[in-house]
Amino acid sequence: MSLPSSTSSAATTPRVLSGIQPTADSFHLGNYLGAVRQWVALQETHETFYCIVDLHAITVEHDPALLRGRTKVAAAQLLAMGVDPERSTLFVQSHVPEHAELAWVLGCLTGFGEAGRMTQFKDKSAKQGAAAATVGLFTYPILQAADILLYSPEPGPGERVFHVPVGEDQRQHLELTRTLAQRFNHRFGDTFVAPEAYIPEGAAKITDLQEPTAKMSKSASSPQGIVDVLEEPGPMRKKIMRAVTDTGSEVRYDEENKAGVTNLLRVFSALSGTPIPDLEKRYEGTGYGQFKKDLAEAVLDTFTPIRERALALLDDEKQLDLTLARGAERAGEVAARTMELVRDRVGFVGRGR
Ligand code: TYM
Repeated sequence: MSLPSSTSSAATTPRVLSGIQPTADSFHLGNYLGAVRQWVALQETHETFYCIVDLHAITVEHDPALLRGRTKVAAAQLLAMGVDPERSTLFVQSHVPEHAELAWVLGCLTGFGEAGRMTQFKDKSAKQGAAAATVGLFTYPILQAADILLYSPEPGPGERVFHVPVGEDQRQHLELTRTLAQRFNHRFGDTFVAPEAYIPEGAAKITDLQEPTAKMSKSASSPQGIVDVLEEPGPMRKKIMRAVTDTGSEVRYDEENKAGVTNLLRVFSALSGTPIPDLEKRYEGTGYGQFKKDLAEAVLDTFTPIRERALALLDDEKQLDLTLARGAERAGEVAARTMELVRDRVGFVGRGR
């Protein structure tokens, strides 16, 4: 696949960039429905860049051997879920050093107070205790802005579409990215297209099976609260059957009074394509048991083939490495072009000129 040159008409092809952290042994149901499913669909219409963000993964204490393994497992899962390396540029963030370089430049445009208002930083640092939170965790959203803006289409006449498919929890980081793009453009001339968050309507925030008012999360959920993509079918089914509902028996969408059932309805609807009112009607009078049983089947139907494909891909590590190397090469070309422009715009002297 050839890359669009800076002057070709392909510069107007709508673009997408998104990223995911390799911080667990498996992605979960929220990652899939909130983000990766959209990544796969957008390959049809957009020029797509997907990044495994290992630099972000070290903003909290980590084990190097685990990170290495999880980065490969992340790649295998993305491919198994349908990210197609012939159509998408799938790469590892640390393979493209421009991410860290642009993050530095953007960091110099970000106010200290502005970064301090990021709610994910506030939550994570509160959990770890302020003294344990690192500067890397503080500047995490700036690195995320760099991940995105490196792949910005070039601004110019006509519409430039630049989407970032993410779950609801990333909305604030996307706002910061837009602000930084506009600020850079204002100070140094038109360079970036401000990206738009692409957040799915029904599945923007999948919640914890045991704590249905909290987000399903790699770092915060208990093992019983989270459905891992790579989980064995038996335990997966059990978790869904044991999901917290309420003392009633009505399968009804009611966020305030029936958070657990509402979450399960959202998941079921997203997986099956059946509108929620139709599901409510189907399970009228049946109680939660049948509803959960059918939902478990829908989850297993989705994840069993993904798990099998991911395990097969992990059996051929050489091929996996090759796929990521190719992705890094393609991403690197785009990133190098953007960074060259950025260096020039901010006034860095070119090498050997
Ligand atoms: P991460 O790895 O935490 O999550 C990956 C994606 O999954 C979405 N997600 C959810 N969606 C719905 N319900 C949930 N319970 C749920 N949990 C997670 C996240 O919104 C995300 O889209 N900061 C990013 C990683 C990142 C990135 C980027 C994203 C780094 N650079 C550039 C986009 C563009 C993150 O924490 O992902």
